[in-house]
Amino acid sequence: MNDDPKSPAHGRASLAEEVLARDRRHVWHPFTQHGTESEPIVLTGAKAASLFDADGNEILDLVSSWWTCTHGHAHPKLNAALAEQAARFEHVMFAGFTHQPAADLAEAVANLLPGDLTRVFFSDDGSTSVEVALKIAYQYWINCGETGRRMLVAFDGGYHGDTLGAMSLGRGSQLFSSFRDLMCKVAVLPCPATFTGDDAVEEREAGALSAFEALLTDRGHAIAALIIEPLLQGAGGMRLCRPSFLKRLVKTARDAGVLIIFDEVATGFGRTGTLFAMEQADVVPDLVCLSKGLTAGYMPMAVTVAREAIFEAFLGESFERALPHGHSFTANPLACAVALASLALFKEEKTLERIARINRRHREMLAELATRPDVARLRLIGSILAFDVKAAGGYQSSEGRRLRDWYLAHGLNIRPLGPTLYLMPPYCITDEELTRAYAGLIEGLDTLAK
Ligand SMILES: Cc1ncc(COP(=O)(O)O)c(C=O)c1O
Repeated sequence: MNDDPKSPAHGRASLAEEVLARDRRHVWHPFTQHGTESEPIVLTGAKAASLFDADGNEILDLVSSWWTCTHGHAHPKLNAALAEQAARFEHVMFAGFTHQPAADLAEAVANLLPGDLTRVFFSDDGSTSVEVALKIAYQYWINCGETGRRMLVAFDGGYHGDTLGAMSLGRGSQLFSSFRDLMCKVAVLPCPATFTGDDAVEEREAGALSAFEALLTDRGHAIAALIIEPLLQGAGGMRLCRPSFLKRLVKTARDAGVLIIFDEVATGFGRTGTLFAMEQADVVPDLVCLSKGLTAGYMPMAVTVAREAIFEAFLGESFERALPHGHSFTANPLACAVALASLALFKEEKTLERIARINRRHREMLAELATRPDVARLRLIGSILAFDVKAAGGYQSSEGRRLRDWYLAHGLNIRPLGPTLYLMPPYCITDEELTRAYAGLIEGLDTLAK
């Protein structure tokens, strides 16, 4: 057998046709309008920053496969960690049992997080980690005897996943209008989305804070928790907020006794330049949600980490005080093992330095983009470069789809979010690959302008 992912091995093209035929007949893809969408590409391999299709064509994975892939695809050390754990055991139920990979990972995550974020609840993906945070926050107040705190506060444009609670928190994203009647009570604050050269940021930040203060004055006693994607709203369009805003927001919430949830599902594990975005504002939330990069993009796994005092509010004699939540695959040992190996790689491969290198290259590109009349609102944070294309429309607009298809046809996995184009590569991307990515990015923009 030919294991080279680049090789268009004999029969692969016909394999692709067969796969597509079965896919067309039986598969329902995520966030996809099957009525208009072009056919998916059949992938047969992936290595480092590249994906390979059935013809052996290389596609640079410039969105890190929905922001999950950190160190690169098919990393030998991560592959080995997975195989070693699989040889020991694959999965066991996690109520009444525990195991070394889970205990080690919980300890490692707690040690990496600031303050007393020490209690780790395992779940399966970003949405469930948010669902868990929401349920913990809600029940915390009931356990404390404050049964009137039932409301949640989120930000306009925020995205927290697509389970019911997470959709409610992301109602400002406009993606979920069909489900409005099923949603729980959420107040939505304006997001002071900022960008390079933004001279009205202070005004918008003051507006967001005073909207929060007004809500607190009016209904503060009814609010259970506030949730925010710290420093960067991802799916909402790579919208930034400043660390100083985050700091003021946390102080305001805390002074009012409102629990603070940081959704670091997208920002965690280096994307914003520090291991966690919260470090840049020097603040500690009451609950933090992590997923995506937790397992370096290998396995579906998430954690919701709580401060110790929150965990203590669930202790008691009756099950009613306990958190009634858990999944079949909670703390899956394979996922724990690969997550532990990924955390070790952050040290071994000096990953934060790799991210700083990507950031320096992005900064040079940002200067070039700033000279173009067809782009606006340039953003740069950690390994993420983003900007708006003036001619592009909303989510799934025809211009956006045209751009995405053009990039794919030219070997670049770049997926616009509405009018926003962004690059968020795996940290192993080489300088040569970045040069190729930037050249293609610009050529695609030129093509759209024609
Ligand atoms: C900030 C944030 N929270 C939650 C989620 C949901 O994660 P998942 O798709 O793994 O359920 C996402 C997904 O993009 C996200 O970006």
